[in-house]
Amino acid sequence: MPITSPRLTQESESHPSGKLFRWLWSYYLKSQTNKIAFALIFMTIQGSTLGALSYMIEPMFDEIFANKLTEALVWVGLTILGLFCLRGLAGFISTMIIVSVSERIKLNLQKDLMDHILTLDTMFFEVNSPGNIMERVLGDSDVVKMIWSGYIATGVRGCISIASLMFVAISIDPLWTLVTCLGIPLLVFPIIWLQRQIRKSTQIHRRASSETTVRLDEIFHGIHAIKLNLLENNQISRFVSKATESRRASIRAAGGNAAVPFLVDVVAGLGFLGLLILGGTEVINGEKTTGEFMSFFTAIVLMFDPFRRMSGLITAWQMTRVSLERVYVLLETKPNITQITKPETLDYTGDDLEIVFEDVAFSYPDLEVFDNLSFTIPPQKMTAIVGASGAGKTTVFNLLARIFDPTEGTVRIGGIDIKTMGLPELRGLFSVVAQDKGIFDETIRDNILLGQPNATGEEVSRAARSAQVLSFADELQLGLDAPCGPRGANLSGGQRQRVAIARAFLRNSPILLLDEPTSALDSNSEELIQDALEEFRSNRTIVVIAHRLATVRNADKIIVLDQGRVVEEGTHSELVAKGGLYSGLYQSQVLVS
Ligand SMILES: Nc1ncnc2c1ncn2[C@@H]1O[C@H](COP(=O)(O)OP(=O)(O)O)[C@@H](O)[C@H]1O
Ligand SMILES: [Mg+2]
Repeated sequence: MPITSPRLTQESESHPSGKLFRWLWSYYLKSQTNKIAFALIFMTIQGSTLGALSYMIEPMFDEIFANKLTEALVWVGLTILGLFCLRGLAGFISTMIIVSVSERIKLNLQKDLMDHILTLDTMFFEVNSPGNIMERVLGDSDVVKMIWSGYIATGVRGCISIASLMFVAISIDPLWTLVTCLGIPLLVFPIIWLQRQIRKSTQIHRRASSETTVRLDEIFHGIHAIKLNLLENNQISRFVSKATESRRASIRAAGGNAAVPFLVDVVAGLGFLGLLILGGTEVINGEKTTGEFMSFFTAIVLMFDPFRRMSGLITAWQMTRVSLERVYVLLETKPNITQITKPETLDYTGDDLEIVFEDVAFSYPDLEVFDNLSFTIPPQKMTAIVGASGAGKTTVFNLLARIFDPTEGTVRIGGIDIKTMGLPELRGLFSVVAQDKGIFDETIRDNILLGQPNATGEEVSRAARSAQVLSFADELQLGLDAPCGPRGANLSGGQRQRVAIARAFLRNSPILLLDEPTSALDSNSEELIQDALEEFRSNRTIVVIAHRLATVRNADKIIVLDQGRVVEEGTHSELVAKGGLYSGLYQSQVLVS
């Protein structure tokens, strides 16, 4: 069975609101309860200052104006000033608390997402494009900011207001209350229907946003190809078509959301109609006073605003939920390549780190690379792997470092099945120069230091000299402190190779894996690096994938791969004498990729 990894799609992402909310609550919201309680206190102060202000209107008219108390005017004025200042300050504080809590929650979620994503299999990143994952980390995680401020705070405040006003209304006349609220059940079905529509549109919107980011990612990474092939207009229309899909879905979702307050308005109108007919008649007939009617009316009017706002939350939640699901699904994705709970520890001196591939089978989702691969790489020797492009050479390295796991068979290092080792321990055995050089947007020095972050300046310089980095860095104004540019864009292909080699030299692990390390170098630099490798050779296992005879000829052992099988093994002279595939390649003097 070929290796697979889950594709992040919309279909797999259906989780009940309750489950999502419990997850959010226990991991991200609960820890912020104290701060939010503070914010609520300040919000209450802010809200009640209005009440206090209106309360002061009555004594101003009835006491001060009526009795002409000029002195008291100043005091009342100062008190009002104080109230306004208090109101402003409380508003400022509560806003700042909410903002800081929201940003904290978002950062925590993003950090957890990154922690998790980096544990996922390499295959996951081949199945799911970077844009899709990026949109989840940046875009979808943003909605958690809204949870406390938008939902919980609004919800709590709304419930309290509605409950207290409802109490007033019922105490005045239960029948009036019933008649006024008679229309509310009418809202249930339309809202359920709208929720579904909004959820669907939001899913489309979020997916289209992801795809838009994917397009952007492709465009900016392929900028050279686009310019050279005059594909600017073609790429812009690809981008615009996705962005348009996103725009349409976004408008549809927003429309569904706006329809709810509209329905609430209609139902409120019906309520007032019923109240006027029933209550108005009772007032005219003298069964109730005008004061009672006005008081009831005010309570209902005041209830209207929080009710409208809370009904909006029900549908807005659907939009939030879609994003939460997208984040949750990502967090739920489990890696296939994991370490067992009690990994074996490997005691080694270096001369016992024999590498053995035994009956290894491995397939990509649509291609079988190996069906039965066996070979041995002797410790503290230099072994070269040669073979045509696509023969499976890089895949051998990936199986060795458990970037992928074989579907059958075992890989052993020092006699231990690598699946039973700890992942950090296994990967710590290797210094790798991969085909993708992995140069980051940092200085040359920092890129080399990634091999061994605690290395001294002297050690970095030595590695840089051996790998022929200094020979070009010395010409740069900033030397080793020159920036490499995004993905190493400031360096040539050969310079990137040399930085990667310096990194591997600095890392200084017992096994050095080099995947076509000097393919982009001129023969002079290649020879110099070859000399540097000779120093390592005495007490390290070196495995090099190479095409150049200069590299291969010196190897202690050469393994020739063809179509996923080992076809020849031996030293250069043995293989040339044999007159097989290697010898053919040798005769043509160049090992062609
Ligand atoms: N991530 C991948 N998904 C699917 N097929 C792959 C992947 N990587 C490599 N292959 C295929 O597997 C075969 C072996 O690849 P690889 O080991 O990179 O070859 P080599 O390094 O010898 O050129 C090739 O046919 C290649 O197309
Ligand atoms: Mg390769």
